[in-house]
Amino acid sequence: MNDRLFIFDTTLRDGEQVPGCQLNTVEKIQVAKALEQLGVDVIEAGFPVSSPGDFNSVIEISKAVTWPTICALTRAVEHDIDVASEALQYAKHKRIHTGIGTSDEHIKYKFNSTREDIIERAVRATKYARRYVEDVEFYCEDAGRTDNEYLARVVEAVIKAGATVVNIPDTTGYCLPQEYYEKIKYLKEHVDGIDRAILSTHCHNDLGMATANTLSGVMAGARQVEVTVNGIGERAGNTSLEEIAMILKCHRSLGIDTNINTTKIYPISRMVSSLMNMPVQPNKAIVGRNAFAHSSGIHQDGVLKNVHTYEIMDPKDVGIDDNSIVLTARSGRAALKYRLMVNGVDLPEEKLDKVYEKFLVLADQKKEVTDADVLMLAGADTAEAHAVKLDFLQVTTGKGVKSVASIGLDISNQKFEAAASGNGPVDAAIKALKKIIQKQMTLKEFTIQAISKGSDDVGKVHMQVEYDGSLYYGFGANTDIVTASVEAYIDCINKFKK
Ligand code: KIV
Ligand code: ZN
Repeated sequence: MNDRLFIFDTTLRDGEQVPGCQLNTVEKIQVAKALEQLGVDVIEAGFPVSSPGDFNSVIEISKAVTWPTICALTRAVEHDIDVASEALQYAKHKRIHTGIGTSDEHIKYKFNSTREDIIERAVRATKYARRYVEDVEFYCEDAGRTDNEYLARVVEAVIKAGATVVNIPDTTGYCLPQEYYEKIKYLKEHVDGIDRAILSTHCHNDLGMATANTLSGVMAGARQVEVTVNGIGERAGNTSLEEIAMILKCHRSLGIDTNINTTKIYPISRMVSSLMNMPVQPNKAIVGRNAFAHSSGIHQDGVLKNVHTYEIMDPKDVGIDDNSIVLTARSGRAALKYRLMVNGVDLPEEKLDKVYEKFLVLADQKKEVTDADVLMLAGADTAEAHAVKLDFLQVTTGKGVKSVASIGLDISNQKFEAAASGNGPVDAAIKALKKIIQKQMTLKEFTIQAISKGSDDVGKVHMQVEYDGSLYYGFGANTDIVTASVEAYIDCINKFKK
């Protein structure tokens, strides 16, 4: 019989820590429900002590989700654990995830402490968490750089104190696959009582080895993996859920089963990408736009003769429906609804009507409206709720002339207009905007991306604006890149007030 591997998803905690990827509670519930449908065993729903928003999200996700265990992160601090336990009050199955840094770097520079003191704190936190819940996971932060002998002492101590799962994070993404394999094997062989707990992997991708390390950990005996959708996460990200799920499905000889319904992978990938405004790189394994696209003549020829020549997975197994309905200006609401559903977005009728109106406007400007376009439209309907809205924008620009912009804003139902010139259309438009807003704001980062391809494409703009000592992230999308830029700036401004 195959072994069962537990999938612990941390998209809503480690994934959501990425600057610019923050979700509101409603969006987090949407992702959590999709994770439940996908079949994950554990959802790490947040770090409740870190903010009232995270606390509230853990409460609401606990109410919304039935089968998966809901997990809340804490430091090895009693107050954190008290708050996590309160946030988990509605969870049907609950887990507290507590822990502390165990590498010499963390012990010395983060805690100015000693190895013995760290073990004492770890034991105390585990026992304290066990007073609230039966399921306690302990993380040894930076375990990747912790020497194995000491790590084994920590793991043994926390298991004795009641930890049911012990997480061995390669926090800095430093380990080599063989090294990580040896680490897990060492723990399996040297820790007294190791069979009373599950060992968990938690690998970061700084050197591009997160998936390889996770797999090595599993081969050495870890039976839980901590992963995120699309591999999002701090810096270069975490291990991708979809990669691990498909590796185990394609390599049945490994003898490891998960509860993942792989046909839900693509829809949730699209949903997370669109809600977090985080594009998936086109060549990303499993879920990238090109993951199943054969472009060279030799490959196309082979695939047309027999797909097995160049395909190791059936795109349908990951939920990619290649008989896609193509959306054009003649498509009806039902086609739009279908494409949104395929992409994991189920809109209520009145919201669908609004998105459909915007879809018709866009379809008039483009020959074909792509999945990325409709997802953008479905996520871009929150502007009405904002205090500052773009009323109109007119820009004159070109070679050999100065760019001039005039702009109209609606601020809490009052109309304002201004004009300015600049060294380019975006500069002119933002200068005109600043004449109205009159705050000391500095543009720190400005990224433009085309969603798919073609000169009629929708452009996405990500911005970072500094105001009053804080950084704000804004997003805009439009077929006109200057308008998208101004909308991203306005998105930042609307966040100043929160
Ligand atoms: O990377 C890490 O070490 C973590 C822990 C907090 C589990 O995310
Ligand atoms: Zn992490």
